[in-house]
Amino acid sequence: MSDRKPIIAANWKMHHDHLVAIQVVQKLSYLIEKDDFEVVDVVICPPFTDLRTLQTLIEADKLEFGLGAQNCYFEDSGAFTGEVSPVMLKKLNVDYVIVGHSERRELFGDTDELVNKKVKAVLKHEMRPIVCVGETLDEREAGGTNAKVDGQIRAAFAGVKAAAAEQCVVAYEPIWAIGTGRNATPDDANETIGVIRAALRDLYRDSADAMRIQYGGSVKPGNIAELMAMPEIDGALVGGASLDPDDFARIVNWRR
Ligand code: PGA
Repeated sequence: MSDRKPIIAANWKMHHDHLVAIQVVQKLSYLIEKDDFEVVDVVICPPFTDLRTLQTLIEADKLEFGLGAQNCYFEDSGAFTGEVSPVMLKKLNVDYVIVGHSERRELFGDTDELVNKKVKAVLKHEMRPIVCVGETLDEREAGGTNAKVDGQIRAAFAGVKAAAAEQCVVAYEPIWAIGTGRNATPDDANETIGVIRAALRDLYRDSADAMRIQYGGSVKPGNIAELMAMPEIDGALVGGASLDPDDFARIVNWRR
C-alpha cells in the first residue's frame, strides 16, 4: 500500500437536477460513515446547476464530501457565452474540477492545448484538477496505449510547476471502458497507471509519488475491490454507478 489517500469521485455527467441531487447526497451521507472519510476522499461532481445547492447542503450539514465541477473555461471572465469561469466555481467552494474528460475531448473539441490551459486556470484559483487521460479501442489494439497516455500527460502538465502538480489528481479512463460495462482488467489498469506515473516522475521527480491516479471506466460495486487492491490505483472516477447512492456507497466502502 502506498501512503497516498485514495480518492473516489462521482461523475454524474448530465444527470440529476438540483432537487434530486439533495436526495442523493443526503442518502449518501447516511450510508457513508465518518470513519470512511478518514481513509478515502469522496467527491461529488454534479452538473453546474446543482453546485450551489450541494455547497449549501454540504456546509449546513457539515458533510465531508468534496465538491467538484465537471468542466470549466480557462478565462476568469469575458464574452464567452455559455461558459463557466473558474472564479465562479471557487466562489462556490468547489474543491475539484474534472478537466479533459474524454466526452469533452470527443464531443466538445477539448484539445490537449485547451486541457493544459484549463489545468492551469483551475490551479491558479486554488482548486484541484482531475486530469483525465485514456486511449481509444483502436489505439489499444494498435499497441498505442502507452504513447497516448504519456503524450496526454506531458501536454496537460506543460508549464505546470511541481508544487502545483502535486495538487492534481489524474484519472486513467480507457475510452472503450467508459459506460460500456467493460472495465479494464485490474492488471491492465495498474500497468497503464504505472506508465502515467513514470511520465509524471520524469516531469516531477520529487512530487510524482505523492500524486493520486484514479482508474475510471465501468467501475461498479462488483469490481472496485480488485481494482483498489492494485498498488498503482489510488481511487476511482465513477460515472454510471455513482448515480445510485446505494451503489456509490458500496464502491466507497470497498473495504467492507
Ligand atoms: P462509467 O463512466 O463509470 O459510466 O464508465 C466513467 C467516467 O466517464 O468518468
